[in-house]
Amino acid sequence: MENLKIAMQDVASKIEVTLDELMPLTNLPEARVIEAMRYSALGGGKRLRPFLVLNSARLFDVDDKYSLRIASALEMIHCYSLIHDDLPAMDDDDMRRGRPTNHKAFDEATAILAGDSLLTYAFEVLADEKTSPDAKVRCELVKELAIASGGFRGMVSGQMLDLTAGDKPDIDLTTISRLQDMKTGCLIRYACEAGAIIGKASDDEKEALVSYSKDIGLAFQITDDILDVEGDANLVGKALRKDEEAGKVTFVSLLGLDEAKARAKELVERANQTLDIFGKRAELLKQVANYILIRKS
Ligand code: IPE
Ligand code: IPE
Ligand code: MG
Ligand code: MG
Ligand code: MG
Repeated sequence: MENLKIAMQDVASKIEVTLDELMPLTNLPEARVIEAMRYSALGGGKRLRPFLVLNSARLFDVDDKYSLRIASALEMIHCYSLIHDDLPAMDDDDMRRGRPTNHKAFDEATAILAGDSLLTYAFEVLADEKTSPDAKVRCELVKELAIASGGFRGMVSGQMLDLTAGDKPDIDLTTISRLQDMKTGCLIRYACEAGAIIGKASDDEKEALVSYSKDIGLAFQITDDILDVEGDANLVGKALRKDEEAGKVTFVSLLGLDEAKARAKELVERANQTLDIFGKRAELLKQVANYILIRKS
């Protein structure tokens, strides 16, 4: 795991540099929205999605200078989703990554705008020639990110279902899997899919990466739900026991802690088997899947 820790820290610092360069401070009168974007995008976090983008692309020897831009665009979408997720109209949270949430540090209207701007800027970054010299690749990257983020079976669809999950105590395992798959899975899937797109992977290689990412995406949300129940708020950096308070149906509420842990483990084992076609080169991707099971934040 020591290797993995170093590799994750390396990606985290590279992504911070890229995001910082992509979102320069300005002294224009509208600077407040840029400050709010920077507050959330440069505010720490595990940077799991960037790690997946870079390491998927590295399977195909893609230069990090391209994947870092894709990873930044994806992290912008992720950060926008968190800013909006924390708003009073949604989860109404005051803490994120150990700091006040965006609307607490700024104000609600600015937080909404900062989220909007991160969402749109992500596509500007992807569409730029610096992301890939190949226009077809850029188009596919843009299209797949739009699908993964939106309200037609994307992240927004998952958030919609999640908001109403508290009112429907009869939700079953299939429905909750579909919800989580969209809410959290779609962006994690995009991370690996983007690596395959920029790397011009074969159909089999792409399928293996997508299948891996679907399984770890679900495992990741199961561990988010487990941490909500038994995590340490200081390590997690956000308020816990929120799901039960909101009466939310999760894997943990349906299966209990032990079963939920067993389910996450099974998913990770299956995910790692699908990477066998890449041999040794997929070692870090396998390690990060294992880390998902034991993460404390
Ligand atoms: C939190 O995502 C929201 C979920 C989708 C569960 P992360 O746990 O990846 O958040 P950061 O980026 O590390 O803060
Ligand atoms: C948030 O899910 C998922 C997205 C922002 C898309 P949660 O509401 O469970 O995430 P946390 O627990 O606030 O990080
Ligand atoms: Mg939420
Ligand atoms: Mg939340
Ligand atoms: Mg949660």
